[in-house]
Amino acid sequence: MTAIPSTPPKQLEHALEVSPGDWPERELYLMLTALVVPRPIGWISTVSASGVRNLAPYSYFNLMGGDPFLVAFASTGVKDSLRNIREVPQFVCNIVTGHVLEKMNFTSADYPHDQDEFEWAGLAPVASVKVRPPRVREAKAHLECELVQVVSERNSHVVIGRVVHVHVDPSVWRDGRVDPKLLDPVCRLSGSLYANLGEIMSVQRPAWKDVQGSVGQEKMPRIVKR
Ligand SMILES: Cc1cc2nc3c(=O)[nH]c(=O)nc-3n(C[C@H](O)[C@H](O)[C@H](O)COP(=O)(O)O)c2cc1C
Repeated sequence: MTAIPSTPPKQLEHALEVSPGDWPERELYLMLTALVVPRPIGWISTVSASGVRNLAPYSYFNLMGGDPFLVAFASTGVKDSLRNIREVPQFVCNIVTGHVLEKMNFTSADYPHDQDEFEWAGLAPVASVKVRPPRVREAKAHLECELVQVVSERNSHVVIGRVVHVHVDPSVWRDGRVDPKLLDPVCRLSGSLYANLGEIMSVQRPAWKDVQGSVGQEKMPRIVKR
């Protein structure tokens, strides 16, 4: 077996084999967050027991279940969002779209606990329907959530919430559903890199009733460009 490099090599002559602990943590972080892409961004608003608002982006974030609808985001270390959720167990996932990318990024600075990122980024807090934390008026959609549980493993804290209410702006709605192009979600790559949606394709889901009796990939649904 080839020797494991102690840091990322400039060029790869063979397939890379690396395990946690082989490299400095930051290097593994940069590689894994470059491999698991694109990641959506949950722009999480919370409120402390004393009423201080907080807003911060998390790209360890996704919709994690459908019965009930769960979302999860993960905090590396105990940050203000998690501190607030421990005090007031609710949060809002504001969906990050192209027009708010810079403001979203500005809310990621390490503002002290008593600072309100809504004010720093010039964003308007508006009341939520079912939870105490406000949502971001400028966002095109919001998922209001109640905390289900926090799963912690060393310094990673996965916050799981149940979606209790959803808001969608009319500007992203077409023909009875959210139009991905109109939504224009920001896709996070690694480090300071972001992307928007490229070409959109459709591939139908296969069903056994259609596949049975065929040979190999004969009935494999094909890509249709939209
Ligand atoms: C696009 C983006 C995504 C981020 N994702 C995460 C994440 O998933 N987990 C995390 O702990 N920090 C993440 N960060 C860093 C936090 O946003 C940053 O530490 C912030 O200060 C946390 O705010 P808080 O202390 O108010 O919760 C991200 C930053 C950016 C710009």
